[in-house]
Amino acid sequence: MKIILLGPPGAGKGTQAKMISSKYSIPHISTGDIFRKNISEKTPLGIKAKEYMDKGLLVPDELTIDLVNDRVKHDDCKQGFLLDGFPRTVKQAEALDLFLEENHEKLDTALLIEVPKDSILERMTGRRVCPVCGASFHVKFNPPKVEGKCDLCGNDIIQRKDDSEDTVRERLDVYEKQTQPLAEYYRSKNTLRVVDGSKDINVVFDDISNILGRD
Ligand code: AP5
Ligand code: MG
Ligand code: ZN
Repeated sequence: MKIILLGPPGAGKGTQAKMISSKYSIPHISTGDIFRKNISEKTPLGIKAKEYMDKGLLVPDELTIDLVNDRVKHDDCKQGFLLDGFPRTVKQAEALDLFLEENHEKLDTALLIEVPKDSILERMTGRRVCPVCGASFHVKFNPPKVEGKCDLCGNDIIQRKDDSEDTVRERLDVYEKQTQPLAEYYRSKNTLRVVDGSKDINVVFDDISNILGRD
């Protein structure tokens, strides 16, 4: 099963990705998480990516496409994968198509999680993330079982640097201009499915499961 997750910042892509990945046993590949790991390890890629991410801008396609092309060649992707936050530009979508074509594979579903703009700020400012495993929590909507600790791996959870109000607004602008056109791109290929991400987390997951199939 090969799936991509589309949706504005704060739509719940990461939250749902963790649940999908565990239910369908496919790796969750988040470009944002990969960049953040590189930033914390101060790798050359991380140093470059940080410049853009801190401003809420997209990391250039050249860096992002190579990274994903390498990652999806790993053995754990043989049965499929779930891409969270990639593609984000038409150029990235074309690169993914080319990769799939060369490997005689195809994308099953482009899942767009839609959330109204006005609820996004509240989600982002209350978000806490695990810097180790990437899990997302929310102080009000999805609090961790033990305050300040990740449910999945027990590490301290933190606030993301790009979750300040100004940066979130910039990210929303960037989404509208550069990523939103991908909905049309995948609609024209008949792979687009849309879910209402404003519902409760478990209801959204049920809707997604209905689309992807029960097994
Ligand atoms: P990335 O990490 O992908 O960030 P994003 O797309 O902006 O999305 P978020 O991770 O902020 O939100 P999410 O949809 O995962 O929501 P979450 O589940 O956490 O990218 C960050 C940066 O990296 C980019 O700005 C860019 O610079 C760079 N980058 C990454 N990929 C790139 C690419 N392909 N090309 C170029 N640059 C790239 O949920 C949000 C909050 O809401 C949480 O607190 C959660 O608990 C809560 N929540 C979730 N669902 C619900 C619900 N149903 N009801 C109530 N609360 C909910
Ligand atoms: Mg995310
Ligand atoms: Zn964790």
